[in-house]
Amino acid sequence: MLVIRQLKKKFGGVTALDGINVTVATEQIHAIIGPNGAGKTTLFNVICGQYAPSSGSITWHGQEIGGLKPEQLAALGFARTFQNLQICQNMSVIANVMIGAHLQQKTRSPWASMLRLPRLARDEAGLYAESLDLLRSMGLAHQAESPAKSLSYGALRKLEIARGLALRPRVLLLDEPAAGLNHTETNDMTAIIRRIAASGITVILVEHDMKLVMALADHITVLNYGKNLADGDPGTIRSHPEVLAAYLGSEIEAAS
Ligand SMILES: Nc1ncnc2c1ncn2[C@@H]1O[C@H](COP(=O)(O)OP(=O)(O)OP(=O)(O)O)[C@@H](O)[C@H]1O
Ligand SMILES: [Mg+2]
Repeated sequence: MLVIRQLKKKFGGVTALDGINVTVATEQIHAIIGPNGAGKTTLFNVICGQYAPSSGSITWHGQEIGGLKPEQLAALGFARTFQNLQICQNMSVIANVMIGAHLQQKTRSPWASMLRLPRLARDEAGLYAESLDLLRSMGLAHQAESPAKSLSYGALRKLEIARGLALRPRVLLLDEPAAGLNHTETNDMTAIIRRIAASGITVILVEHDMKLVMALADHITVLNYGKNLADGDPGTIRSHPEVLAAYLGSEIEAAS
């Protein structure tokens, strides 16, 4: 269980997170929604260690993790994707996934770099096979050796997820995985996210596509101006007066 209490994050005079409370149950899909600038990406950046919290606590199974470094959080099982894709465009598709797997190996076994060559070579083959499996599960195996820049935008979004999964995470944070995707690609993405959650990974999802959120989420937290606005299952959020008033009215209508 991930428990966030009274979390604040200030950037100079801007309070991006102003006392946020979120409880994420394990093996669920937990969506974080809210208008532009609500603090969703900042919350991800703080959970994953890109930024230290200004105050408040984040605990994971009872252990305080607020302020840990990204690689420490990766070692604990936190992986993420980025709202603005962070793919190495000139590297091959599979090399992009293997970066994630390498990081996993490094973080879980600090002595890996001291292993002798034959062992390393075998691990490299294992990493390649594992990465290819991940690409297969995203429908990208046939493009494994192509440069990442040759992929469509929708395929790049899937590649980012494959790279996150290469860390063998316990929690996967997805920042707008369906942004810029067409209808078919969004359906694909919905199925992928559902499959990831079914495999026992806790998914925390930031997304503006309300149809996707309502179809996938077990639980939804709504943020507005860096504060909690509402919490509940999709049915509750869909008919929540304050949420409808703040911004969701039109988006929910469009989704139903
Ligand atoms: N590194 C930073 N420095 C200064 N201000 C920041 C920084 N990161 C975020 N902010 C500010 O914090 C607030 C929340 O931004 P954030 O990106 O978390 O919103 P968001 O909910 O992800 O929005 P969107 O839906 O547009 O992605 C905004 O006012 C933003 O300008
Ligand atoms: Mg954002």
